[in-house]
Amino acid sequence: MPESRCLQGIWSSPWIFIFAAAGSAIGLGNIWKFPYMLGGNGGGAFLLIYCLCLIVVGLPMLMAEVALGRTVRSNPVDTVNDLAERRVVSKYWVVVPYLAGLTGLLILSFYSVIAGWALAYSHRAVTGELEHLDKLQSEALFQGFLNNPVEMLLWHSVFMALVVLVVGQAVTRGLSNVVRVLLPTLIFMLLLLSIYALVVGSGSEAIRFMFRLDWSQVTFEVALSAIGHALFSLGVGLGAMFSYGAYMSKRMSIAKACTIVVSLDLVVSILAALIIFPLTFEFGIDVDSGPSLPFVTLPIIFDLLPAGQVIGLVFFVLLVLAALTSAISMLELFVSWMHERFYIGRLKASFMLGLAVWFVGIAVVLSFNHWDAKILFGLNLFELIDGTTSLILLPIAAIALSTLVAWVIPEPMLKNEMIAQNPRHFYWWYTTLKYVSIPAAVLITVAGWIGV
Ligand code: PHE
Repeated sequence: MPESRCLQGIWSSPWIFIFAAAGSAIGLGNIWKFPYMLGGNGGGAFLLIYCLCLIVVGLPMLMAEVALGRTVRSNPVDTVNDLAERRVVSKYWVVVPYLAGLTGLLILSFYSVIAGWALAYSHRAVTGELEHLDKLQSEALFQGFLNNPVEMLLWHSVFMALVVLVVGQAVTRGLSNVVRVLLPTLIFMLLLLSIYALVVGSGSEAIRFMFRLDWSQVTFEVALSAIGHALFSLGVGLGAMFSYGAYMSKRMSIAKACTIVVSLDLVVSILAALIIFPLTFEFGIDVDSGPSLPFVTLPIIFDLLPAGQVIGLVFFVLLVLAALTSAISMLELFVSWMHERFYIGRLKASFMLGLAVWFVGIAVVLSFNHWDAKILFGLNLFELIDGTTSLILLPIAAIALSTLVAWVIPEPMLKNEMIAQNPRHFYWWYTTLKYVSIPAAVLITVAGWIGV
């Protein structure tokens, strides 16, 4: 890879890579989406399949992305172009990084709207609107918010502006300091809240729901949702982890770093569910109520706590920050590519892309109220973008990127990269990726699509 195209900054300490990758992984996917996916897919069965997907598919695919990024130290688009020019891979592979980048932009278009909900709830915690809410009032408050597209658009715009500003700066500077403080605080807070929820809510019912396995719920469709969400939650398949791998120091073990990231991601998701479900059962909130579930449930727990409004405010602000450290990695692929290939300033590139995403986000905002039309397959625009990205584009992009690493790129290229740390890790990972992760992901995805 020509020196001029290499990324400049290398993470100074191994932990900075872990913080950056965990910052990308941990976000709304864990605290907002995971609980309602678990609720909608029957609890224990989904949790079990989800954990298997994280370990058997997510972890090896995450390592593949990071390993390739560190080997070539460039962005995904230039990397595949370069490999195609050198005839290491066929030129058709060039489609993959574009698909990954586009998927990231599509995800961001609704991710930013939901992060806007968290911003709006931070604001409501300040104005005291979250005080003294019972179940019906909390549902009414959220519904009232959904029916107000102007307010939703405002917060979506604020969030997108933040994303553009942070991505406009170099990623090494923008990220690590925030996540270093954010992550431990978030985990600590989730831990305390989950203990409290288990005590004041219906803890035993929640535990039974989350951990009891009902085999009748185990289907390929549930498995497809689980695999799609595992990839979404880890942020695999979009080339973001590729970019972080490109900044990673050679001394760091990829296997170790990625295992830590996956574990942190899982812990945060489970803690979030342990907060939500004791309350849903205690207050008779429907576990299958979809995207509104966390936003209806969380204000109730804050109201039960002493100094709950302050805790609520801190919580929603942390959630916004967690969403921000994820959202930036959705823009990163194309921004770094435009910067390195066309010498467009980072701020300018992220502004242009951010503007396009913001426009699509307007349609997403309207799909919750004025434009709640079922466009296709009985789904509105939000559901359509969410479903298409998690269940179709993300699995395709992740499978394609891993196939490139495991089956197409010559083994010595990666072996030299990874073997220095631990040869056993390399063989374990490479064999699993080739013969287990990719086939399992293909099988589940295709079977889920055809509805077996
Ligand atoms: N992993 C993030 C979350 O769970 C979302 C994300 C998806 C980030 C894809 C990067 C890439 O919220």
